[in-house]
Amino acid sequence: MTETPSRIRYGGDYNPEQWPTPVWNEDVRLMQQAHVTTVTVAVFAWALLEPEPGRYEFGWLDDVLDRLNRGGIRVILATATASPPAWLAHRHPESLPVSIDGVRLAFGSRQQFSPSSAAYRHHAMRLVTQLASRYAAHPAVEAWHVGNEYGNHVPRSYDPESQEAFRVWLRNRYVDIDALNAAWGTAFWSQTYQSFAEVGVPSAAPMIRNPTQVLDFDRFSSDALLALYRAEAEIIRSHARDVPITTNFMGFFKDVDYWSWAPHVDVVSDDLYPDPADPRSRVLSAAARDLMRSLGGGKPWLLMEQATSAVNWRPPNVPLADGRHRLNSLQAVARGADGVLHFQWRQSAAGAEKFHSAMLPHAGEDTRVHQNVRRLGEELTRLGDLVGADVPAKVALCFDWDSWRAIEQDGTPAVVDYLDTVLRFYEGFLRRGVTVDFLHPEADSSGYSLVIAPAAHVLSDDAVRALASVSARGDALVVTYLSGVVDENLHIRLGGYLGGEGALRGALGVRVEEFAPAADGAPFGISGGISGEAHFWQELIRVDDAQVVSTFDSGFAAGSPAITVKRHDGGGAAWYLATRPSTALMDELVTAWLADGRVAAVFDRAVADVETVVRGGRRFVANHAATPTVVTVDDRRIDLPGYGAVWVES
Ligand code: GAL
Repeated sequence: MTETPSRIRYGGDYNPEQWPTPVWNEDVRLMQQAHVTTVTVAVFAWALLEPEPGRYEFGWLDDVLDRLNRGGIRVILATATASPPAWLAHRHPESLPVSIDGVRLAFGSRQQFSPSSAAYRHHAMRLVTQLASRYAAHPAVEAWHVGNEYGNHVPRSYDPESQEAFRVWLRNRYVDIDALNAAWGTAFWSQTYQSFAEVGVPSAAPMIRNPTQVLDFDRFSSDALLALYRAEAEIIRSHARDVPITTNFMGFFKDVDYWSWAPHVDVVSDDLYPDPADPRSRVLSAAARDLMRSLGGGKPWLLMEQATSAVNWRPPNVPLADGRHRLNSLQAVARGADGVLHFQWRQSAAGAEKFHSAMLPHAGEDTRVHQNVRRLGEELTRLGDLVGADVPAKVALCFDWDSWRAIEQDGTPAVVDYLDTVLRFYEGFLRRGVTVDFLHPEADSSGYSLVIAPAAHVLSDDAVRALASVSARGDALVVTYLSGVVDENLHIRLGGYLGGEGALRGALGVRVEEFAPAADGAPFGISGGISGEAHFWQELIRVDDAQVVSTFDSGFAAGSPAITVKRHDGGGAAWYLATRPSTALMDELVTAWLADGRVAAVFDRAVADVETVVRGGRRFVANHAATPTVVTVDDRRIDLPGYGAVWVES
């Protein structure tokens, strides 16, 4: 995306196939008035592009792209493979996905394909070959959008073709069946397999399914979707050498491991629909933006979809009050996005999403929503200096799909919400105005002076070593409850959790002996060097070589250490936290951890509804509350109206 580097991209999905051609002329004119730079075309157009197998109708798309080109609007061209046409389901019913209960899903919605279907793959690749050869050199096309939201609706299919593909994947991973038996711990409950032919997908079963089989199927399913993405991208690449290729991620989406996907997209792009009725959505959305930036190793990313106001898939579809669409958009830019796009340009008159907001509502241009859209478009034209700019961070928060999936399986010590657990720590830093990057636990963290590993349940030996190196090199490490419990095969690390006998236990100077999730929601006190309230979780830990900062006052673990720190030669510090802190206790802990990491907070005390982040020499400050507020940043007083957001020199 190098042609117009001085503009933040602005626009959305454009579905002209839903409208008669006279509307297309009006669309281009109104897009220009709204300062739209970019639209995503043909996301769900397969049935119109290929009405019968092998009969292609590209005339209408030629026309649309030419009109957009004449109007100066750039196009992100979709490959249209997210929703196969009726003829595919009719001729190849085996291409339809099968649910965990063995139900074959029907045609009539969208994304009704098994990731391992040979028929789907054959026809999808044929269409992509046609599209890529026809439009590779089209002057309007500035990027390619492969599929759409891979894994949304159908992340896994339990059909016979998926079963076969799973076996191939397992053979590649384990080579021989004994290795699979060892990894899956099949000596338990008489699950031993004699050959790969006996191994199936983890469909609905009488009781808790084999944990490693379930996790491997999760990994396989993410990989199967990635293989589809990569096959399409390869075809496009063979026709369009220098045009960026992407697919839209979905923020924190459990079913697809974006760490493994990110190296295969030229630019990370994301869809995010923060819920205006959820007061915590400000945390989730800031974190999702930071995740997208982190997935790309700090590179700018693209907000591919968001809503201008209400969606149509929540129980009540609450509209965005004035200011909130702008705030969401600028938050994305401030946290690294070089583009702000939407679902969709023109609100549909028919179909499943006719009540979903758009840039141009049913009621037309003289509307609250469209006037806001125009104003924002105009404002973004003045932020061109941010294109390509970095968002510096000194704090890294470990995030890992294996831990997410494993800790939320059946048969674990408690029902744990992994994302919520991670976001509680993220929020602690957000409330102090400290920017955080997300990091895979195995990744090199040497650019960060403070590394937090919350509920890092699954740790490979590489991850154990990577985390242990943080305090050894003189930086600050924080490891929390439920970390280092199992390896990548979900086998317990024996000899005390926290990586067993390994390096992490040495770094922290503690070992965890027993888990004690609390039976009720009642808080328990923590007292000592840092005092406050905690909830949900206690652990019995043994201190080998660390300083006890605080102990539990009550509950199963009363009198036992709750917070420890081991100070290392060279200034490093390794903290262990054996419980879930209340918000107030978290604020205290964050203060201590920032001090050990030599990271300065922007707000000297925690601020609930205001966020701030620096990008490219501009500091973004935003108020997520409906009421006005005042904050002090760098000794400057900043007045913010309700849902107000400003940029100040940093
Ligand atoms: C996304 C999808 C869009 C549209 C949107 C509605 O999941 O990619 O096509 O359905 O949601 O919010």
